[in-house]
Amino acid sequence: MEHREDLIKNVFSSFIHGILILDTELNIQKSNPALEEMFCRSSEVLTGNPISILFPDQHPLEEKFRQVISNGASYQLIEAQACRKNDSSFFPAGVTLSPLFGTQGEILGALAVIKDLSLLKDLEKVSRPLEQLSTAEALTLGMAHEIRNPLGGIRASAQLLLADLETSANANLIKIIISEVDRINRLVKKMMDFSQEPEPKLKPVNIHQSLEEIFLLEKETLETNKITLKQVYDPSLPLIQADPDQLKQVFLNLIKNAREAMPTGGQIQVNTRYHGSYALHSASQIKPLLFIVVEIIDSGCGMDDKQIENLFTPFVTTKSKGMGLGLALTLKIIENHQGTLKVSSQKDSGTTFQVFLPLPQK
Ligand SMILES: Nc1ncnc2c1ncn2[C@@H]1O[C@H](COP(=O)(O)OP(=O)(O)O)[C@@H](O)[C@H]1O
Ligand SMILES: [Mg+2]
Repeated sequence: MEHREDLIKNVFSSFIHGILILDTELNIQKSNPALEEMFCRSSEVLTGNPISILFPDQHPLEEKFRQVISNGASYQLIEAQACRKNDSSFFPAGVTLSPLFGTQGEILGALAVIKDLSLLKDLEKVSRPLEQLSTAEALTLGMAHEIRNPLGGIRASAQLLLADLETSANANLIKIIISEVDRINRLVKKMMDFSQEPEPKLKPVNIHQSLEEIFLLEKETLETNKITLKQVYDPSLPLIQADPDQLKQVFLNLIKNAREAMPTGGQIQVNTRYHGSYALHSASQIKPLLFIVVEIIDSGCGMDDKQIENLFTPFVTTKSKGMGLGLALTLKIIENHQGTLKVSSQKDSGTTFQVFLPLPQK
């Protein structure tokens, strides 16, 4: 008998999906570790609380819970929005409900199995059909989720500990745990963005307007870092076809890198102009290809040849808080726009990045 109870306990605590046992008033009686991890809350905190603390304002779901209790109905994989504690964020969940019967067949409460559907939903969001996802992309997305879930648990536990030990000399160590978890979270988030390779949503974009929006964001930081900004724009440039959000990300990355290369101040010069080149379209026909160029020139620390060689390799960084993903992502976005990125740099004197973006062919 003892052996059997152990087995049931083990199943309960090893199950990969969340399990909840509710009483007839829909208050939480018991939860398993997978559920605690998923919702970033300990079972002590959950026990005795109404189900609505995990699924706030989800009346259709609550109604189904009531049906389970009142007439023994069961439901498969109802989609609901579940609320995580640590950042009060919601995630998509699939909830399977069944009544919990006593030995006489009476209904003691409800049993819920809760599945985190966020990976599935993220995969659905990828612009291409799932089967076209490369193994590497699928692996990255899958890994990213596997990393993020336990991180939520680590963060929530550390925060609970911190509340207890706020005045202790070791409180700082816990704060480090939390800030490092946040850093891994940001890294993983970037990894996910990176693996999804969104198709650009093209529309007419005024390049100068995009740049101005970025400088508006960066203005203060540039000033406090004693960096002057010089803009040399060609006002006659036409609109280009681009994804405005992705383009902003490109210039933001480049401006940020330029700023970070000048810790004691300096100058960033931004030039815009036309650039013509020639491409052979057929044996007899040479057609001009028109680009616009945006140059970002800094007077910062520059790079040697070896650094330039590894510039676009993901995770290569010289900064203590860097991720080494900015330029890899930047290059990918530019290439998705049929453009190119060129770099020239000299150690200790500065760096120039040139972004070439094509103009529509007449
Ligand atoms: N304007 C620049 N001047 C000097 N070095 C640069 C510049 N831009 C990028 N780098 C170098 O390239 C590395 C990779 O840049 P990036 O991919 O943006 O990642 P991160 O900024 O997170 O380090 C940086 O760590 C830095 O060494
Ligand atoms: Mg960067």
